[in-house]
Amino acid sequence: MSLKVLVVGSGGRENAIAWKISQSKYLDKLYCLPGNPGTASFATNIAAGVGDFEAIASAVAESGIDLVVVGPENPLVDGLTDFLKGRFPQLLVVGPGKTGAQLEGSKEFAKDFMSRHGIPTAAYKPFTKETLAEAKAFMKTLQPPYVLKADGLAAGKGVVILDDYVAACAELEEMFSGKFGAASSKVVIEQFLSGIEVSVFVLTDGKDYLILPEAKDYKRIGDGDTGLNTGGMGAVSPVPFADKVFMDKVEERIVKPTIAGLAADNIDYKGFIFIGLMNCCGDPYVIEYNVRMGDPETESVMTRISSDLLLHLEAAARGELKNQKIEISPEAAVTVVIVSGGYPGSYGKGYPITGIDKAEADGATVFHMGTKAADDGVVTSGGRVLAVVANAPDIVQAGRKAYSAAANIDFKDAYHRSDITRDLLKYL
Ligand code: AMP
Ligand code: GLY
Repeated sequence: MSLKVLVVGSGGRENAIAWKISQSKYLDKLYCLPGNPGTASFATNIAAGVGDFEAIASAVAESGIDLVVVGPENPLVDGLTDFLKGRFPQLLVVGPGKTGAQLEGSKEFAKDFMSRHGIPTAAYKPFTKETLAEAKAFMKTLQPPYVLKADGLAAGKGVVILDDYVAACAELEEMFSGKFGAASSKVVIEQFLSGIEVSVFVLTDGKDYLILPEAKDYKRIGDGDTGLNTGGMGAVSPVPFADKVFMDKVEERIVKPTIAGLAADNIDYKGFIFIGLMNCCGDPYVIEYNVRMGDPETESVMTRISSDLLLHLEAAARGELKNQKIEISPEAAVTVVIVSGGYPGSYGKGYPITGIDKAEADGATVFHMGTKAADDGVVTSGGRVLAVVANAPDIVQAGRKAYSAAANIDFKDAYHRSDITRDLLKYL
């Protein structure tokens, strides 16, 4: 087997997935659309937007692509997989069709799926502008804090958690008035779950599955989980509190019924499922499903997979995952994300980046998240700029190695959290 592969997406997640695929003995040629300066070092980048389905189809036809891996959620929710399968019936695609992608595209769809299949999650109810009075009455029955979720995709910003009932009512009215555009014309209100979060990743063909290494993400901008929410400032894998007992519960109570639920609902699902879980006193509850890998979790996760990822992806896309076995390195992976000063608010762009080579010489792997090629090197072009990943026998050593490698990297106003791994040390 010798495959021509196209990875769709431009972030650190796609850089990491493509990097792992580039090591496969089953790879013939690797393309990324649009990719980034990181993927350019080992793959051919094709300039086009991830929402430009015609351009993606042209790339598939012109380069004779056998397998497409779709990185981000938006094209999946918009039906890229169905579109490509319609054009190229033989094409292998990793990423669910439009129906399966509703697990991320609609909170109500996901919650109904979980309740139909007995998957543990927070109690919830969906509401619209027309049922505002019922929504307020439902909140009265809940203990604060109140969790309000825009039903549709809102670039990770559609969840608002408030302690005060009056403030929650005001927020609800704003959401119905278009705070998150059409995504919040429906709002799911749910019970607050307290605990610690973990991201679990599954690759499935809709019948069988492989569980990838789990990871913990750091969402807030500041040390000690303070300040605004971001796309993710760091990731650690493995997660010390996600021990065998906990992960067995995750597999029995969540992964198995999720895959069985997809089959029972006749949803053809070939792709990743990222299950955002809350560990509530040792019991897992689903916070959300995503139909893609997490970013920056992927940057840690990919470095821990020691079997051939392309073999697993091909088998999943073909519907033949049954006999696949994933091998996972016992080494830990810690990712530190370096962002532009000001992010997640406004920030400058176009600043020259130095020290990537030195960080790599120090034993780290550097993935590009928001960079652009310039005449004499790479410059910043996004809020999250680089992911610096280090591997070592445990998370303490991997954390130290990641920070010492990251110290080589510089650009104007660069910032990173300095406490990635710290909250986990008490579980060691
Ligand atoms: P989501 O976009 O669904 O991942 O939600 C964003 C964040 O809000 C999650 O990562 C959690 O930290 C938090 N969150 C969501 N739902 C709940 C819940 N029911 N209870 C507590 N925290 C939640
Ligand atoms: N790191 C969380 C996400 O990718 O949604």
